[in-house]
Amino acid sequence: MKTKPYQPDHSALGYSVGVTLDRFIKMKQDDFPFASGELSQILRDIALASKIVNREINRAGLSNIGGAFGNTNVQGEEQQKLDVVANIRFSRALTKGGEVCAIVSEEDDEVIDLQNSSGKYVVAMDPLDGSSNIDVNISIGTIFSIYRRVTPVGSPIQPEDIMQPGNKQVAAGYVLYGSSTMLVYTTGKGVNGFTYEQSLGEFFLSHPNICAPKDGKIYSINEGLNSQISEGIKNYITSCKERDFSARYIGSLVADFHRNLLKGGIYIYPSTAKAPEGKLRLLYEANSLAFIAEQAGASASDGRNRILDIQPTSLHQRTPLYIGSTVMVEEAEGHLKEATV
Ligand code: AHG
Ligand code: MN
Ligand code: MN
Repeated sequence: MKTKPYQPDHSALGYSVGVTLDRFIKMKQDDFPFASGELSQILRDIALASKIVNREINRAGLSNIGGAFGNTNVQGEEQQKLDVVANIRFSRALTKGGEVCAIVSEEDDEVIDLQNSSGKYVVAMDPLDGSSNIDVNISIGTIFSIYRRVTPVGSPIQPEDIMQPGNKQVAAGYVLYGSSTMLVYTTGKGVNGFTYEQSLGEFFLSHPNICAPKDGKIYSINEGLNSQISEGIKNYITSCKERDFSARYIGSLVADFHRNLLKGGIYIYPSTAKAPEGKLRLLYEANSLAFIAEQAGASASDGRNRILDIQPTSLHQRTPLYIGSTVMVEEAEGHLKEATV
């Protein structure tokens, strides 16, 4: 039989569809000697849930899924129906595989113990970020962090499995449901972004090895908080205005963070008079994005300390957040320090 090697002429195609998320995860698994593939499976499960949530979000205006659920979560915030739906979708996806022993979610007041003591991993998540933007068709997101449990596999989960500082994350990521849907994640070896191709139902590598600009010209803060914030932050904002920087604030952390990561900028949610600890949650908002920021060459601080070094003391702990281009985060910290001496 006559054979020939596979050497197709691709010129007729116009473009190549590229590397799928699944293939990429598999390729990267080899970066970790002795990896058993469990972390890879969790990432795939999260990707699958995000496709389902993406579908629900796309239908939000048509199906009866917009609006309030009629309940408040542990933060005292009104839950939207999609908050609840996304929480169920991600929790179910993480429960099925058997790799996860516990889930921390913004929408659940207590840790969800999956009663699966053989699971090695703990996942913290904000299933739907920016939920006030759901009903007005503006970008929203999902944020997640993955930790390896510290107590022996096979034993019941303990508080120390959950209360780990961000520097112990083994992976973190976010999904941005924006003008296109993207999944961006890190396992501590750089940051990669994937864009969802709806008709194929697959994420494809579109933003390999994301590197954040060291400096930027975008500042993102809710300036409506002006009467409640410290002189140091006010001075920093004034200095941004004096340099004609652009103010951009979507009100969905994931979307504001993503833009600043790619274009260069800083996102600030400071301590305020009404909320001295700020608004954002350490375990499933600040830590996840801080890990990604640092892996992309950017920075994250609470105004004084590196976010990833904060030892959590409670599940839904809040923290002020200064995150984005390193030069800008350092400048903002400098203004805070100057105003307090
Ligand atoms: P969530 O929808 O998960 O509660 O998060 C909302 C957060 C964050 O996404 C956003 O940047 C911030 O709240 C906006 O807060 P303000 O409306 O106070 O500016
Ligand atoms: Mn959020
Ligand atoms: Mn949320």
